[in-house]
Amino acid sequence: MNVQHKPNDLGAFWMPFSANRQFKAAPRLFVGAERMHYITNDGRRVLDGTSGLWCVNAGHCRPKIVEAISKQAATLDFAGTFQMGHTRVFEAANRLVNLAPKGFNHVFFTNSGSESVETALKMSIAYHRAKGNGTKVRLIGRERGYHGVNFGGTAVGGIANNRKMFGALVAGVDHLRHTHDLTKNAFTKGEPEHGVELADDLERLVALHDASTIAAVIVEPVACSTGVLIPPKGYLKRLEAICRKHDILLIADEVITAFGRLGTPFGSDYFGISPDIITTAKGITNGTIPMGAVFVKDHLHDAFMNGPEWMIDFFHGYTYSGHPMACAATIGTLDTYEEEGLLTRAAELAPYWQERVHALKGLPHVIDIRNIGLIGAVEFAPDPAQPGKRAYDRFVKCFEKNLLVRQTGDIIALSPPLIVSKDEIDFLFDTFTEVLKTAA
Ligand SMILES: Cc1ncc(COP(=O)(O)O)c(C=O)c1O
Repeated sequence: MNVQHKPNDLGAFWMPFSANRQFKAAPRLFVGAERMHYITNDGRRVLDGTSGLWCVNAGHCRPKIVEAISKQAATLDFAGTFQMGHTRVFEAANRLVNLAPKGFNHVFFTNSGSESVETALKMSIAYHRAKGNGTKVRLIGRERGYHGVNFGGTAVGGIANNRKMFGALVAGVDHLRHTHDLTKNAFTKGEPEHGVELADDLERLVALHDASTIAAVIVEPVACSTGVLIPPKGYLKRLEAICRKHDILLIADEVITAFGRLGTPFGSDYFGISPDIITTAKGITNGTIPMGAVFVKDHLHDAFMNGPEWMIDFFHGYTYSGHPMACAATIGTLDTYEEEGLLTRAAELAPYWQERVHALKGLPHVIDIRNIGLIGAVEFAPDPAQPGKRAYDRFVKCFEKNLLVRQTGDIIALSPPLIVSKDEIDFLFDTFTEVLKTAA
């Protein structure tokens, strides 16, 4: 592999969600990847402790996926799915609904998590209208939620930095309180004991707006991008029950929790909930080709099938919805997950993972440790003068020691590919411990 390749100029690419000037002064560049590792332009092998961006669940450059994509590129490069189709998209859809929780018999394809969220939000409002409940138009998100970066997703999202620059966003949106409570739940292993009653916050919003105006509630089963907030025991089930009571659709945003991250195929399986819509992306193609999928139950799908048969039933879709290459990547990915038992492997690793992540307790500045499935997070006391800097410095030090972790504010999240070995878990935590012991 040619590890010498370097871009001549880093200025042309305006990097997303990045401190561009700082990065370009001291770049971190990859030129290759293989299974658990990235390869840097200076020839180092860096353990991927973040599955790329929570998406490379089967590890990098896996042969079945590479082969499926290559073959597809040479056979059928593009075919649209508006009023026509191709065989791969139906094959991918069938494979996906067979894997999904019970009742999710239909899937709508998008190209990203953000697009899956927009699709789900629009679908929810249109569903109620199709059922004759045209006043149900409000959307409820949650503080600290992350649902991508398009207008709807930003509006229902609850991370202040992602919202404040972008004006009034979308009208008719409100938010549940978040579930993070360090005073009661710090250093909990798995699901926190306290906070089930926070689901009742939905009753407060119903009292304020009236159920007749609310279309849907969207939450992440585990709020990962904001720094891994694990729902209190019973919280999601209670939220589901309140949605049912008021005919409000529940959207589980499983862009991260679908495809094995918690040790079950979907996060909804893990928590025993049955939402109306599940949004996915990322792990659906193991991060190889952009792809998202919105899973819906019969009642939702069928509500759109009542107009004249010659008419379009849902005026929504993307040029690349169900792109042949993405469908091939999905099929290669599902083959890999299934053959290697990866959708349940996190459950086997979880006890050891939990033991190692909680052994970080007591290291300098650590104020909380959280874990679920093959996810861990460490929260640091912020330096009041420079919030986020403490975790950022640790992230850079980890990278220098050949470990990639994910920093959000003063939190570092860990979520390696589901093929990780015990030795690699040891490398990850030994390196991380050393960094936490020695960093300023
Ligand atoms: C829960 C959730 N929803 C939506 C998104 C947005 O996905 P994308 O970046 O593919 O648009 C993410 C990305 O991290 C996510 O975690």
